[in-house]
Amino acid sequence: GSYDGKWRPQLHFSAPRGFINDPNGMYLDATGTYHLYYQYNPLDTIAGTQHWGHATSQDLYNWTNQPIALAPNNASSFIFSGSAVVDVNNTSGFFPNQTNGVIAFYTIAQPTEQTQGLAYSHDNGQSFIKYPGNPILRIPGDVNFRDPKVFWYEHHWVMVVSYVLEFTVGIYTSPNAITWTFASNFTPHGLTGNQWECPNLVEMPVEGGGGGEDETMWLMYISVQPGAPLGGSIGQYYPGRFNGTHFEAVDAVARIADWGKDNYASQFFYGIDVATGEQISVGWASNWQYTNYVPTGPAEGWQSVMTLPRTNYLRNATRLGYTLVSLPHNIDVVRASAPVVGNTSLGNSTLRADLADGDGAFLLDVNVTGINTTVLSSSASVNFTISSSKSRESITGGTLVATDSTQWIDRRNIRGWDHPFNTGRFSTSFVVTNSLDFQVVVDRSIVEMFSQRGERSATLVYYPEELLDTVQVGTKGMNSGARVSVAVYQLRRTWP
Ligand code: FRU
Repeated sequence: GSYDGKWRPQLHFSAPRGFINDPNGMYLDATGTYHLYYQYNPLDTIAGTQHWGHATSQDLYNWTNQPIALAPNNASSFIFSGSAVVDVNNTSGFFPNQTNGVIAFYTIAQPTEQTQGLAYSHDNGQSFIKYPGNPILRIPGDVNFRDPKVFWYEHHWVMVVSYVLEFTVGIYTSPNAITWTFASNFTPHGLTGNQWECPNLVEMPVEGGGGGEDETMWLMYISVQPGAPLGGSIGQYYPGRFNGTHFEAVDAVARIADWGKDNYASQFFYGIDVATGEQISVGWASNWQYTNYVPTGPAEGWQSVMTLPRTNYLRNATRLGYTLVSLPHNIDVVRASAPVVGNTSLGNSTLRADLADGDGAFLLDVNVTGINTTVLSSSASVNFTISSSKSRESITGGTLVATDSTQWIDRRNIRGWDHPFNTGRFSTSFVVTNSLDFQVVVDRSIVEMFSQRGERSATLVYYPEELLDTVQVGTKGMNSGARVSVAVYQLRRTWP
């Protein structure tokens, strides 16, 4: 359970030992504590005997590991993914004398059938009692029916749950969270891949919307695997409208949430008021193509990490209409106040940061304004290299700046792990009118890149022989009048 290993992320959530995958049961309680449950195999460092692990945090960076919350009844009945809510008004009847009763919804995964079960907690999510009447939702003989996500809508509960092989999300309603009635189906839109998993439906603030009616939209977020465009697993989302029983997407466009390969099964916290201007999500930073083969299990006894907590909202009037913004949530909690190096007018030159005296976690922040794409040379670019002074391994990336800019990140020069699907170079593109910004968060074996005020994000894991400890960033070919601002910050370790 030590968080010292050379690949162990220092400010991301990972479990002390064993294998983790999807975030589950995420809710914010009335005291301001965030609860993260997660798919957990405590017995091995590959997927298998699925439990729900549990951790709590006040700020989403400093986590306290809690006892396992849900364990399987027997060896052929696993606890698969799901969600949690707070039943403030005791609609369920489980909580006669309290307003902080918690209900967890999960899939009971048996070889012959997957059904939905619930468990309730009188002690704010520490321990759960499995409902004796389980399952609460069942399609006889369906072995691919899973991942219930429940939320409150005006006067009733709503569940979205996946008919995995039909690329369909079922929408059910309930007055008491126990008896569920079918309401509608959301059927194939965008990518199918081979399976649809882990649906989320959440009310999203629209940037600049002020939070009033018509100033929010609903977001259906679905995880697809295998068969993602980059291989394996990925998330996609649909902005749309929801009336309590039916979801209607604004269009038929496939919007992919991440241009890297390691962001899957994102879940949004229950209990965040849309009027705060954000929702908060966490994803599982891995890919089913290779998650059971990454080297941390054999080497350090733990396998897989969650993404940074993400601030999410919708931005309208982008090239494809609504785009889901994804940014690090409150990174200041872990960021050193002063940069290791910084330059607010870098010009066409290079800046170097030596980070060897830190914990192997740092942030590169780049902002370019005053770009004039009509006069830019075709080589105009911003490039970075994040490297190890010991082994010379590196992650490189950058942006070719033009009206249609191309951005890339490359993990091919990392040598600690080899696997046929550990593909290395990724790219995206976006329109630059006069500014470019990106942030790169590095944490020992995970890198996340956020660009254009969160309109793009990429998540990648990597396993170097030696810690990456140096950042170089430079620009070339920028027009005069462009102003390049670069800063590199140490990030603080949050694990004891
Ligand atoms: C997604 C998923 C879910 C399932 C869980 C099992 O990664 O396949 O559909 O509930 O993992 O661990």
